Amino acid sequence: MIVQDYREYLDDILVTEEDLRNRVAELGEQISSDYQGESLHLICILRGGILFLTDLMRQITVPNTIDFMVVTSYGTARKTTGQVRITLDLQENIQGRHVLLVEDIVDSGYTIASVLEFLETRHPASLRVCTLLNKPERREVDVPIHYCGFIIPNKFVFGYGLDMDEYFRNLPFIATVALDRYRPTNESG
Ligand code: IMP
Ligand code: MG
Repeated sequence: MIVQDYREYLDDILVTEEDLRNRVAELGEQISSDYQGESLHLICILRGGILFLTDLMRQITVPNTIDFMVVTSYGTARKTTGQVRITLDLQENIQGRHVLLVEDIVDSGYTIASVLEFLETRHPASLRVCTLLNKPERREVDVPIHYCGFIIPNKFVFGYGLDMDEYFRNLPFIATVALDRYRPTNESG
């Protein structure tokens, strides 16, 4: 299988490794202060939020636990249709707990809106959203965002958890894509 080198379609490095480190530390500090005296249950939406979660939790000083969910959106990778399905449910009960949802990016807002609605039915003590990235220009449904790493322009990005058709989630920075230079992977190639 031939995977195109991301350098061929990388347009710009939007958020550097250092920017990420600094901002994640700030968010961790803010969250720790807001939840002082409580314990916090972090819920990460796989797979995009994984790098953010593991860095963020190391910056949180209040006692915390983690759990994961997998959510599948219908539509193509670059445009969700609004229908979202939970394909992996939580392992633990969230009733009466302080829950913080950890997401990679809020784009149309459909994913977070559905997940919030689903989690509310289980009666957490509180429920907030922490997203690394926010693309407000793309919003189609209003969602509450309590903590946000960076507001970004309406461009497709990859790296630090975010994928380019599943690849390059491991990059330590966030980059924009020049879609005209991108050739989708030929699975039989
Ligand atoms: P929403 O439901 O439209 O808000 O989309 C959220 C999901 O779409 C995210 O969790 C990502 O998996 C994906 N997504 C949205 N924008 C981007 C992007 O620029 N790069 C990579 N994935 C993205
Ligand atoms: Mg994706």
